[in-house]
Amino acid sequence: MDYLPPPWKIKMVEKVNLLSRSGRESAVKEAGFNTFLLKSRDVFIDLLTDSGTSAMSDNQWAGLMLGDEAYAGSENFYNLEKAVKDVYGFSFVVPTHQGRAAEHLMARALVQKGQHVLSNMYFTTSREHVERRGGIWQDCIVPEAHDPQKDKPFKGNFDIARTGRLIKKLGKNKIAFIRVEANCNMAGGQPVSMKNLEDLKTLAERHEIPVIMDATRALENAYFIKAREKGWEKTPVKKILKNMMRFTDGITVSSKKDNLVNIGGFLATRNKKIFEETKTLVVVYEGLHTYGGMSGRDMEALARGIREMVENDDYVEHRVKQVEWFGGLLKEAGVPIVVPVGGHAVYLDAKKFLSHLPQSQYPAQTLSASIYEECAVRSMERGIVSAGRDPKTRKEHGSKLELVRLTVPRRVYTNDHLGFAAEGIVNLFKKRQTIRGLKMTYEPKQLRFFQAKFRRV
Ligand code: F0G
Repeated sequence: MDYLPPPWKIKMVEKVNLLSRSGRESAVKEAGFNTFLLKSRDVFIDLLTDSGTSAMSDNQWAGLMLGDEAYAGSENFYNLEKAVKDVYGFSFVVPTHQGRAAEHLMARALVQKGQHVLSNMYFTTSREHVERRGGIWQDCIVPEAHDPQKDKPFKGNFDIARTGRLIKKLGKNKIAFIRVEANCNMAGGQPVSMKNLEDLKTLAERHEIPVIMDATRALENAYFIKAREKGWEKTPVKKILKNMMRFTDGITVSSKKDNLVNIGGFLATRNKKIFEETKTLVVVYEGLHTYGGMSGRDMEALARGIREMVENDDYVEHRVKQVEWFGGLLKEAGVPIVVPVGGHAVYLDAKKFLSHLPQSQYPAQTLSASIYEECAVRSMERGIVSAGRDPKTRKEHGSKLELVRLTVPRRVYTNDHLGFAAEGIVNLFKKRQTIRGLKMTYEPKQLRFFQAKFRRV
């Protein structure tokens, strides 16, 4: 092995079951071939998401006992506020129950009808909240992000030239904010470089447009900067993370990822106006501004998670390298994956894996269902189903990328589990020609991927 074992050991375990092949076939059929609709008890290894699926530390569990459940001014809120300030560097913090709630408040505070939001690449809920405000979303990611086989270090980067042209064309008043997502999820968990963040901020500042980062996976992005960007090799990840924040006016965070908790989120900013606005809104939509939809104990676990993730570089280094190792097993066996491997997940290129299926038969959705049938491993579609439809024209957004995400929860699975998953997927790859596509039989109006149903064609 070319990297160290995890910097933690296992203190408590949870039983999992492996259903028989016929059991899996009926479970996935009943779920309408949508892995979101599977029951957790029918899943052996759950790689659906890294969101809220982390194992907390003994220190975080101990923190749960110290919940101050006062309605207002809970001690745990001040601990959270201090942790965010120390680690991310923002003085103003608004807690929310999870990431999309922070996005909701940010969209309400910043977006007027007809205004644009420029992003490296959308995330489903981030775009939804902007569109609900009558805003128009524009992706400005570098072109190589759309090529799964192109091995570049920072495929999450903004295309600065295109962004500049768009600002010129639209005019600054037509742009609500620039949203940069660290370790861009929909692009395959691909990082943004420090240089790109700096260039983006310079451009935005010239036109007085605020830059808001989706910092949900900014820690993992910071690790990639250390590993790949010249000049940062010797800097602790903690410092890199804080430096990234200098190039933003604020952040929205789903704490269910980097921050190592099962629920929670926040937004943070150094801009007083954004703070005042969102602090007023949080009371309407989430709860008082000193709990924002979280219990005191949840805030304590979160405050501790934020500090723990940057205590030293060992945790994040192991985390990212474990995902890379898993991707390596698949790549070596010839399975088409997105390269380089992202920070939180390995993405299968379903267009290549199931090259005999047209996109109208949902190759990524099909592959995700077939992986479950093969080895009881749960994954997620990230392709044309997730891309959804334009709210006005109802036309499909379409998606150049047709991916299946195998997302690795933090501190939950050993390499044995991931090895088993890789073996199942390699076996499936060998008989890929036998896999039939899907037809959609039920389509929800918004965020359709969560609840859509399918049948085999
Ligand atoms: N931003 C990013 C980049 C995300 O990945 C997510 C959630 C959110 C915002 C929303 O946060 O779930 O706490 O409300 N991503 C999960 C995933 C659902 O599986 O990738 P939330």
